[in-house]
Parts: sequence; C-alpha cells; structure tokens
Amino acid sequence: MEIWAHRGCSYKYPENTLSSFWEACRYEITGIELDIQLSKDGELMVIHDEKVDRTTDGSGFVKDMTLRELKRLKIQPNEQAGKVYETIPTMREVLAMLAPLCRREGLLINIELKNSVIRYGGMEQKILDLVKEYDLGPYIVYSSFNPDSIRLLKELNPDVRVAILSGSVSDCLEFARQVPVEAIHPFIRAEDMELLAERECTDIIERGIRVRAWNLRTWEPFFPENREIEIQDIEKLKKAGITDIFTNTPESYVSLRKVPTKQILLEKGKSIREDTGYI
Ligand code: G3P
Ligand code: CA
Repeated sequence: MEIWAHRGCSYKYPENTLSSFWEACRYEITGIELDIQLSKDGELMVIHDEKVDRTTDGSGFVKDMTLRELKRLKIQPNEQAGKVYETIPTMREVLAMLAPLCRREGLLINIELKNSVIRYGGMEQKILDLVKEYDLGPYIVYSSFNPDSIRLLKELNPDVRVAILSGSVSDCLEFARQVPVEAIHPFIRAEDMELLAERECTDIIERGIRVRAWNLRTWEPFFPENREIEIQDIEKLKKAGITDIFTNTPESYVSLRKVPTKQILLEKGKSIREDTGYI
C-alpha cells in the first residue's frame, strides 16, 4: 500500500501548512496531497476551503483577497513545534521547499485543484506554468472533483499525470474510460467500492490505473482536534482493490526516513528562506 500525507501530517500539524509538509517529509511516504485556491491577484494559495474562516483568524473568500492580505492571516500552530503562528503557504513556497526531496527521493505531490465551487478561470495554466518553472513535472499528479478541469489540464499538456476525484467508484470509472487518467481517487467508503473488488473494471485495472482512496474527518480528524484517529485495515483495503491511501497520519503506517529532513530539504549552499521565508 502506498501512503500519501493528506494535507501533510494534518493530524499533528495544521493542515496544508509548511510545517505539516515538513513533518510529512520525515517519513517514507509516497507523496504529499494538498489543495489549491486562487487569490484575487492570481496567486495559487495552498488552502482547502474557498473561505479562510475555518483555518485562519480571518474571514472571507480567498478569491476576494490579495496575496498580501492573505499572508497577514494567522493559522493556529502546533506550539510544541516551537512556532508562534503559521500563514497560508503559496504553491510556489511549497514547490520550493519540496523540490529537493522530489528530485532526490522521488517524492510525489498531488495537487488538488479546488475548482468545483468556484471555477477559477486560468487556474490550470497557472499551475502548469509554475510546475514547469520548477521543472517538477514528473513528480506531480493533478486531481480535481471537476471533470472539466481534468480534461483541460490534459488538453493543455497531454503529458501530465491526472486523476479524477469522486465520492463514487462508478463515476471515477466512467471518467477513466473517456480520459487517459493515471489514477482514480474515490472515497474510501464509497457505497459502490465492490465494483473494484468484483473486478467489474478489468479494462481499467489492466491499464495499470492506481486507486487512491481518501477519507473523511469523521474518522480522520485534523489538528487541533484531538479525537482518536481510526487506523485503516491495510490488508482489507488491498483486497478491495485500493492501491494507495491518503491519510492525516502517515506516521501510523510508515517509518521515519534515515536521512534527517533538514539534510534532505535544504539544498547545499541554499536556504529555504531565500525562496519561502521559512526556516
Ligand atoms: O484528494 C483527496 C481528498 O483530499 C479529497 O477530499 O475534501 O479532503 O479535499 P478533501
Ligand atoms: Ca484534497
């Protein structure tokens, strides 16, 4: 089973922040999943909701605020980690931070375009351009609940790896029969999960498509909630046809890397601060 850090290590650290991604890099994970929205002045911001209310001390829509305004908002930190507060990262900051681990260890990044509620015209081209700037194409998987967005990404660059997100397996399979996706990303408790187990989709399986399943906060809470997290029965999931899981606690499934994070992420002679202001 391949393990992905969902919004980073988002059980112990605030979701979609540099600290949650930094923590995730300490573990032998396959990749990091994150969400992007677009600011008023066209900056790709790493934040799950359309509004800043749930995760920051501000209120309002990301689309109505400039990068400068968004960067003033504070996110409650994990104080044990010694931070005073955190801010919403830009996609640029995240790519700058993770690039060394992608290149040296093959870490993957799943960028979920959050464009089902607000369509964010131009978002697809912007993220493709940014990834190109960092030369990280082979390490990126793009996903969205919006099928039109996935189609557009493929039109703009047929070489990109894309995945369709849905609450149901049948929706994912139907889309995968129309568009050359690298993976399907269904809900881990989809009511029609048996479609995979019963191999009613041998055409899809034979294409080597991965099945990456995601969970809900009901069973996998986010920081700072300290409810117990439900640990998955990996063997059962494998039997159901799932190849990868997104989890808020990758630390429950994989070991620490042997090389210290700082040594991996900080490129020789270069400080992350130059690119990100972090560390
Ligand atoms: O990409 C998998 C999963 O993150 C989708 O749901 O709401 O956590 O973005 P959500
Ligand atoms: Ca997501």
